[in-house]
Amino acid sequence: NCKPNIAIDGPAGAGKSTVAKLVAKSLGYLYIDTGAMYRAVTLKALRDGADLNDHQKLGRLASNVLISLKAGSDGNLTVLMDGEDVTEEIRLPAVSNSVSLVAKVPAVRRKMIELQKEMAAGGGVVMEGRDIGQVVLPDARVKIYLTAATGERARRRWKELADKGINVDRRQIEEDICNRDFIDTSREMDPLAPAPDAVIIDSTSCTVEGVVDLIVARITGER
Ligand code: C5P
Repeated sequence: NCKPNIAIDGPAGAGKSTVAKLVAKSLGYLYIDTGAMYRAVTLKALRDGADLNDHQKLGRLASNVLISLKAGSDGNLTVLMDGEDVTEEIRLPAVSNSVSLVAKVPAVRRKMIELQKEMAAGGGVVMEGRDIGQVVLPDARVKIYLTAATGERARRRWKELADKGINVDRRQIEEDICNRDFIDTSREMDPLAPAPDAVIIDSTSCTVEGVVDLIVARITGER
């Protein structure tokens, strides 16, 4: 009788990471950020100078790179690419602006989905991404589709970067987010969309705590 899994999907900047981390902490579950995995593959491709239209090359690269997520005692994840800590680097705009092109490649997705299914096999994970409820964990006990108005999502992303000392124009971020959402929702394989059985939460004017409580109650309310 293992612990259930929770799937949290949604567009960029909707607050998935913040919420997923807190839900995991509150339940004593493992937090898994699948976007970080696609970002790590993208970083590898950029470093190798790979042509992002060369799907064969990207597929090979995804099969050969070793990606692992390590949970710290503070609930944060360390992202390792071939053993190197790339936690900070995968958040840079260069990666954010290319990741959707890499993530739409079927061979890349197949590899990541396989890894993600393995990570969740024991139950008790809060997994965050784009296709978790529909593809990676179709049997997740609770599926959430977290969204927010585009302007608000851009503001949150901008603040996240600003807090780390990275200064980017807010309109530029909004444009980048829109581009990414467009590619993510229109790609052929596993496009971003709410699972038919997902609870849709628009967090535009919600507090983080409000959203977290709602999700936690869905799990604890069943006991
Ligand atoms: O969650 P994050 O914004 O870091 O994700 C980066 C990108 O990785 C997304 O824009 C999307 O292209 C891709 N992604 C995906 N499937 C997932 C998670 C992320 O295609 N499950």
